[in-house]
Amino acid sequence: MCGIVGFTGRREAAPILLEGLARLEYRGYDSAGLVTSTGRQLHLRKKAGRLAELRKLVAAHPAPGCHGISHTRWATHGGATDRNAHPHLSHDLRIAVVHNGVIENYATLKHQLLADGVIFRSDTDTEVLCHLIARYYHGDLLSAVGAALALVKGTYGLAVMARDEPGVIVGARLGSPLVIGIGPDGHYLASDAAALAGFAEKVVYLDDRQLCQLDESSYVIRNPDCDAIDVPVHDIALFLGDGDRDRGEFPHYMLKEIYEQPEALANAMRGRLDSADCTAHFGGLNLTAQQLRQIDRVIMTACGTSYHAALVGEYLFEELARLPVEVEYASEFRYRNPPIDRNTVVLAITQSGETADTLAALRESKRMGHTTLAICNVVGSSIAREADGGVYLHAGPEIGVASTKAFTAQVCTLAMLALYFGRMRHLSSLHGQRIIHDLQALPDMVRRTLACHETVKEIAAKYAEAKNVLYLGRQYLYPVALEGALKLKEISYIHAEGYPAAEMKHGPIALVDAQTPSVFLVPRGHVFDKVMSNMQEIKARGGPIIAIASAGDADVAAVADDVIPVPDVPEYLQPIITAVPLQLLAYEIAVLCGCDVDKPRNLAKSVTVE
Ligand code: AGP
Repeated sequence: MCGIVGFTGRREAAPILLEGLARLEYRGYDSAGLVTSTGRQLHLRKKAGRLAELRKLVAAHPAPGCHGISHTRWATHGGATDRNAHPHLSHDLRIAVVHNGVIENYATLKHQLLADGVIFRSDTDTEVLCHLIARYYHGDLLSAVGAALALVKGTYGLAVMARDEPGVIVGARLGSPLVIGIGPDGHYLASDAAALAGFAEKVVYLDDRQLCQLDESSYVIRNPDCDAIDVPVHDIALFLGDGDRDRGEFPHYMLKEIYEQPEALANAMRGRLDSADCTAHFGGLNLTAQQLRQIDRVIMTACGTSYHAALVGEYLFEELARLPVEVEYASEFRYRNPPIDRNTVVLAITQSGETADTLAALRESKRMGHTTLAICNVVGSSIAREADGGVYLHAGPEIGVASTKAFTAQVCTLAMLALYFGRMRHLSSLHGQRIIHDLQALPDMVRRTLACHETVKEIAAKYAEAKNVLYLGRQYLYPVALEGALKLKEISYIHAEGYPAAEMKHGPIALVDAQTPSVFLVPRGHVFDKVMSNMQEIKARGGPIIAIASAGDADVAAVADDVIPVPDVPEYLQPIITAVPLQLLAYEIAVLCGCDVDKPRNLAKSVTVE
């Protein structure tokens, strides 16, 4: 996901912009740039690669001025090059733009601008915005931005400056977050409040189709009709999340976040388990007991790791709440038109709260009149604000691009929701009490699971050269097989696939050979014997086996080449326990492969484009 930081005030802008971008680095990007202004002159500095490259450029060629905008870009249209980095300037060098999102009709607009003789300097869709704004600019930047955006189809979070309006920044938002920061030194504009920590004291979130204009001493927000509107002001502390952003003694954020899982789970459950009524409570569902009782079907929609959490949620809701669940990839769901009856609730699951496909699926569900809920980690994010109600994970900032603590916190939250819905229907207080007891033991169980780390390191060294890995599990652990494969793929770039263990016989077993290890999720449970049979089938074909198994399980040890022990927990909580060794295995293999674990190639922490 791209990052935007702007500042106008009484301090040099460049250092503020660079520090703000540094706080958004974890999202993943491939180029960075900034533009500042002094008097009637714009100072543009931009560079492909990491932020350090931009810092070197600015050190060598300072960008003076107390007014500027900046950007980290994750390439959509056009490669990761200096010329494609933002900011972009209009042909007359009067307008500078940074942009998050995608201009879907940019080709048509570019064609018209080329026909008018405009010279393009980049391959990006964003550049058309600069030239359009310049076309409508006659001294009023906000009006020119509004006029240009009227021609645009697509999504944007924008920050715009004009050479002839020193000190003014205009912002606009449609589908990509934008927040105004209010601080003692001036005003800020950013794509995420995290960039403004320590600078701004208050924040104001823009909603879609709103524009804003800032200068060092004031700001105004306007609706699509350009009428000034009042928007609530919040303390920035509300949106910085609990948990710190420092890596501490860990070599990578991802490892820190793996080890934070006991605490993240405790935070997710804090104040929500009710032993007296043997149920769970949530402050933000915003639905009456009557409305919740009427729900007779749930559609869970998400992307990536959050989709895998949703798949676990399907098993949890079916078993504990006896509610039928359908899990949909958000990118598919948003364009399908499934018949949905009116007592269906759509539950969006997302760490960032800004994933474009998940946001679009939520909006489509709302447009059709369905009740929408969200499970989200980032307070104040778009999905959190647009859902009718929801549950925050309170897992703290997740900086590593590969999601870890958010996944286990999502599954834990889904278990609590299943308890809540179940206790409204058929679950007895005795059963509810037992579930609460199991959940309360989770942080300690995960802490005990982390003791497998040394074993995982040894196993990682054996298989770091693998080119293909299979992940296999059944029932609650089938989604964890998918998640384990995704973890390995996204940070070590080794191809991996997750399957229901029984599916091997229907084709994938043809892949098995001595160079293709299979990771089996095989703790004791009601399908243990079936999974053991699947392991034997792989063994018989010479495939190496890594087993995630109940500690001390001699039957598994007799078949598997390597065993990673986990403590015994009830089956419905095994997804949380077994995910931990898979996270560590992917991490240790990626480190051995020399990969950038926290910022894997081609990936962004939050995918805010389609
Ligand atoms: C998971 O490790 C990935 N980083 C990615 O699949 C992620 O889960 C997906 O993009 C969804 O993000 P969200 O949870 O913020 O919506």
